[in-house]
Amino acid sequence: MAASETVLRLPLGSLFSSCHLPSFSLNSSPLLSFKPSSSRKRRALRCTNSMARGNTFHSSDCVFNGKKLQSTRCRCQRNDVEENARSTLLPSDGLKSDLDEMPLPVNGSLSSNGSTQSAGTNSIEDEAWDLLRQSIVYYCGSPIGTIAANDPNSTSVLNYDQVFIRDFIPSGIAFLLKGEYDIVRNFILYTLQLQSWEKTMDCHSPGQGLMPASFKVKTVPLDGDDSMTEEVLDPDFGEAAIGRVAPVDSGLWWIILLRAYGKCTGDVSVQERVDVQTGIKMILKLCLADGFDMFPTLLVTDGSCMIDRRMGIHGHPLEIQALFYSALVCAREMLTPEDGSADLIRALNNRLVALSFHIREYYWLDMKKINEIYRYQTEEYSYDAVNKFNIYPDQIPSWLVDFMPNRGGYLIGNLQPAHMDFRFFSLGNVWSIVSSLATNDQSHAILDFVEAKWAELVADMPFKICYPAMEGEEWRIITGSDPKNTPWSYHNGGSWPTLLWQLTVASIKMGRPEIAEKAVELAERRIAIDKWPEYYDTKRARFIGKQARLYQTWSIAGYLVAKLLLANPSAAKFLTSEEDSDLRNAFSCMISANPRRTRGRKKTQQPFIV
Ligand code: GLC
Repeated sequence: MAASETVLRLPLGSLFSSCHLPSFSLNSSPLLSFKPSSSRKRRALRCTNSMARGNTFHSSDCVFNGKKLQSTRCRCQRNDVEENARSTLLPSDGLKSDLDEMPLPVNGSLSSNGSTQSAGTNSIEDEAWDLLRQSIVYYCGSPIGTIAANDPNSTSVLNYDQVFIRDFIPSGIAFLLKGEYDIVRNFILYTLQLQSWEKTMDCHSPGQGLMPASFKVKTVPLDGDDSMTEEVLDPDFGEAAIGRVAPVDSGLWWIILLRAYGKCTGDVSVQERVDVQTGIKMILKLCLADGFDMFPTLLVTDGSCMIDRRMGIHGHPLEIQALFYSALVCAREMLTPEDGSADLIRALNNRLVALSFHIREYYWLDMKKINEIYRYQTEEYSYDAVNKFNIYPDQIPSWLVDFMPNRGGYLIGNLQPAHMDFRFFSLGNVWSIVSSLATNDQSHAILDFVEAKWAELVADMPFKICYPAMEGEEWRIITGSDPKNTPWSYHNGGSWPTLLWQLTVASIKMGRPEIAEKAVELAERRIAIDKWPEYYDTKRARFIGKQARLYQTWSIAGYLVAKLLLANPSAAKFLTSEEDSDLRNAFSCMISANPRRTRGRKKTQQPFIV
């Protein structure tokens, strides 16, 4: 535990909660105070601003549920709100040199020179860095994240003015690779504060450990003193999100970023902090909690990840499983052994083995497997059924029969009783490579598949979020006639430039960076000229998306991460995980015991005990 760290835990009604004070130095420190807001029912993380233009910090109070805790405040007078909004946006020490050159930072504002078009590659990169820096959001003077989109011409902002956890990951990695660590550290520690929040929807609270989808820095009048303002971190756990979807991926990405921070900076003090360890465990407990499920995969509702609208991915979508596996592997690396965590670590190890077996065996699809499904017997009531999930061969969609190349394969989108979602989902597949959820052979086969199907999956702009699009009656029923998710648009077969960074990590990991190089080169032809859209539409990604934001931060950051990694491929290891020998052994024991492989063969003599 870092010496300067303070961890305070307080009861929150019957719920467990905690107030963690990050170990910031005083002059770069945002000041924390917890107290219930009078104007809003739920709590928000507060930093009180008053008095001085120059952001003077005073030792002060941290108030939580009426109890005073030790903290500090930054103060500014009410009539100085405008000026102080700027003065409190001063960069913290670690970022000073780079940020000194920035236009005056205002949370998520685009400066007039931010949209200059570029010709050469370097100027595209330079422009991207300018735009990324302009998207930085400050909380009491410290950078803590990046706004989702900075489109000056957008008429409806919706929640694109917030810091999304998943959207910040490529931003955070770009900053890490650039040696700018403060913003990532702040992001990790502040989102951790939000984890313990009281969150409800119509009197129902989701499990403790959930991380928000996004948060916003608000400047609000100070309770009881109109001459003062305070900054408030206001999280959204899905209770305001369109469709009220819980962001299952947020906590998983948070763990992955935390591990990358430690690997890249060499500073493991953050992950070793007691509050951070508790945060990891809370996420794990939520994910590993027993339910009704027979499968080791995580059961989630539709829209619980990057695809945050109804797209028929409820159940056990691949993206969540890949992130889940990845987060388990990263957490295992970071958890400090202590009394009381043995059960959690045992549960984690068991789940890793079962999950990797399940995905590798039952989600895998290639020509051979399609042929096997095509000849499946159904209604097998037995312990050693080959067609365990009772998949009817008629489910094999007609598009797939011609689409599957002879060489290559991929992990399907979802598996449920009597249902396989045969769509190709990019993020789940590439992250299965990155995390080693897929075997080495499968990882190569996925890249073979991407290469073989380049015209469909990449075409004019990398990378299709899924393939193919749902059309007609299927679209109407499954999306609920969603006008944003029309065929070949947005989540329904749209092309998302941000996915470039994950594709890059995967192709570097497999020693095939030329795949990413080709994709980056394609993106560079248009992305800056098109003003960094959120997504592209049509089968070949020819149009800027119907309702796509421009200056979408994760499109910008995704491009930068891809460039930085291609220039320095060894840095990809901050994000990748290799399969260890324990897992490999466990996997081979399970595979040889699987009836699908052993029917007609002798049973294995060596059961693996976990
Ligand atoms: C959309 C995307 C989601 C993203 C958000 C902010 O809702 O579907 O993945 O996090 O926009 O960019």
